[in-house]
Amino acid sequence: MGNTTDADIKWTLNHIAKSDDKELKNMSLEEMQKAGEFHRSFPQYTVTPLTKLSHLAEYLGLKRVYVKDESYRFGLNAFKVLGGSYAIARHIAKELGKEVSEVPYNVLTSDELREEFGQATFFTATDGNHGRGVAWAANKLGQKCVVRMPKGTTQTRLQNIAKENAEVTIEDLNYDDCVRLAAKEAKNTYRGIMVQDTAWEGYEEIPTWIMQGYGTLATEADRQLEEDGCRPTHIFIQAGVGSLAGAVIGYFANRFKDNPPVMAVVEAKAADCLYRSAVQADGKRVDVTGDMLTIMAGLACGEANTVSWDILRNHADAFISCPDWVSANGTRIYGAPIKGDEQVISGESGSVTMGLLHALMTKGEYKELKEALKLDEHSEVLLVSSEGDTDPDRYREIAWEGLCGNSKEPFADL
Ligand SMILES: Cc1ncc(COP(=O)(O)O)c(C=O)c1O
Repeated sequence: MGNTTDADIKWTLNHIAKSDDKELKNMSLEEMQKAGEFHRSFPQYTVTPLTKLSHLAEYLGLKRVYVKDESYRFGLNAFKVLGGSYAIARHIAKELGKEVSEVPYNVLTSDELREEFGQATFFTATDGNHGRGVAWAANKLGQKCVVRMPKGTTQTRLQNIAKENAEVTIEDLNYDDCVRLAAKEAKNTYRGIMVQDTAWEGYEEIPTWIMQGYGTLATEADRQLEEDGCRPTHIFIQAGVGSLAGAVIGYFANRFKDNPPVMAVVEAKAADCLYRSAVQADGKRVDVTGDMLTIMAGLACGEANTVSWDILRNHADAFISCPDWVSANGTRIYGAPIKGDEQVISGESGSVTMGLLHALMTKGEYKELKEALKLDEHSEVLLVSSEGDTDPDRYREIAWEGLCGNSKEPFADL
């Protein structure tokens, strides 16, 4: 890779020691299907758009570029609610000795069920989107919710959660320490349940359900691609703790078992725990600690999900670490499309894969990675814009005022 600076994209192909791959079966098409059925029972449910950017594909020298636009998910501007809502339903079903198929939305919100299950308190930590999803679902189902947020979180994100009747605070802690705080509080609370979007040893069931919930977006995208006659050759997926990446890569590894697409995990440089683990390559996870300063708030997580790591180490092809300018460029490219392409409103954590794709196809210094990934005029690429403008002020600073526009000094204008 030669010498790199803080302003450069860093990457490694996957040379990690393989495991017995026991988690992949949890992301089976059948499991994802179950989650999809549950989500379809919500009155707010619609399939989110798969936007085809034909002019951009031509400009970049690719065959096709598609983006799954999660800003339309349940009116919440991000994909995250898919996970929290499904995990809460699975938990309630399990407590009542039922199958999740027996507790669709209308049953979960019925007086009978509220009487049968009573009231629990769902705890979680979040940099914004996950907590909003859990609070939204808990509120809809008449359950209590407590949310802890790390320092650096914006008031807009807090207000969005407070609106869902959750008790929410911003702590003087980073994301991973907020997770520990919420877990401790859940343990010390009567009927307190931790609904966290990451797994660690001994806490795997709920995060696995959350990942299966994310599978709904993969199932939808798969169908939408098929309807357009596309069999994806490349998937770029962003990661914080890696639950979304594990779900998407797990889904497509199961779907195209013999000949999977090239799949790359994309992180914020300030929190690139999966990339660092991949560089170490012995199969052990490497944590990132400290404040993890990045505009990609949803990706500012330094400790990988153990369930997801097992999937990624076996099925991801590359791990890529991106400075903030990559995400900022992605937001601007989506926001100001080539004439004839549709606009996608994509926030900081949603847009990094677009900024990366653009850099790979247009900047000579990333030629080696472009070639390693075999990106060329035959490539059919799937990206996920995992959030819209969840922080509208920050979105406008990037899209209108050019925040993080200088690729040589990525953090200078933060
Ligand atoms: C918008 C957005 N995209 C991507 C992610 C990354 O998901 P994960 O932490 O599962 O890797 C998050 C996480 O909060 C997010 O909010």
